[in-house]
Amino acid sequence: MTTRVAVIGATGKMGRLVCGLIERTEGYELVAQLNSQSSLDEMIGADIAFDLTRPGVSQSVVDFALDHGLHVLVGTSGWSQDRIGSLAHRLADRDDVGVIIIPNFSIGSVLATAFSALAASFYDSIEIVEAHQAGKVDSPSGTAVRTAELIGAARAGRGPVSAPHTDQRARGQQVSNVPVHSLRLEGLLARQDVFLGGTGETLTISHNTLSTDAYIQGILLALAATREARGVTVGLEQIVDLGLSPGAAA
Ligand SMILES: NC(=O)c1ccc[n+]([C@@H]2O[C@H](COP(=O)([O-])OP(=O)(O)OC[C@H]3O[C@@H](n4cnc5c(N)ncnc54)[C@H](OP(=O)(O)O)[C@@H]3O)[C@@H](O)[C@H]2O)c1
Repeated sequence: MTTRVAVIGATGKMGRLVCGLIERTEGYELVAQLNSQSSLDEMIGADIAFDLTRPGVSQSVVDFALDHGLHVLVGTSGWSQDRIGSLAHRLADRDDVGVIIIPNFSIGSVLATAFSALAASFYDSIEIVEAHQAGKVDSPSGTAVRTAELIGAARAGRGPVSAPHTDQRARGQQVSNVPVHSLRLEGLLARQDVFLGGTGETLTISHNTLSTDAYIQGILLALAATREARGVTVGLEQIVDLGLSPGAAA
């Protein structure tokens, strides 16, 4: 069975990667390529709407796709817990479609986030520094937000991260009590470092994306899962069994 995919944001860096991948992958057909000048009607008739646009656009793309019976795969960043909660509420009585939101398609990034959540129970000082290309419009990155949220959840039994002087602007944005610092630099693609401080030691968990090819494996796994998805699924770690159980060691 061929899965018909419409890519929204097809002219962007991620969209071009995804369109090329779909065109050369057996079992998929690229039926529509939308950009900022397109009518959303162009996605009608596809099985999956693959959203790779901008944070301010993504919600309307998802709403339109669901209204027209398409499954949705979201790679666009900026989906907050509140927006995800509203989406889950909206989908509660739908058994025909689902949405998968993947803040980062890189397996290495997902592993680094899981390792960070695993380590979070052992260290009271934790801060995240994420760095992306200068053109990235949103900050902190979706991956940093997700990492901070999982760190916060993994520490439920131990209490919030100890982050002093967070009233000072240079101390970063607080996400689940974890200070997050965003760098925007020419020449970079994506990098994230999670710094953990304990008694007499520090631990740094680093992930560096060197090329958008890092996303290919995760994109194919997420696409394969989307057609059967129901409700809202967030994160590649929900699709791939990493063999880790963050928080279990607390
Ligand atoms: N999940 C991941 O692993 C991952 C990895 C990298 C990036 N991202 C995220 O993916 C998104 C896209 O990144 P990118 O680097 O490809 O961005 P980009 O190069 O700026 O491309 C944005 C795309 O969105 C389109 N667009 C803008 N407004 C639109 C609208 N109203 N309707 C339809 N299409 C619209 C643009 O069309 P025009 O050409 O007409 O402007 C363009 O095709 C961002 O949110 C980024 O943070 C996610």
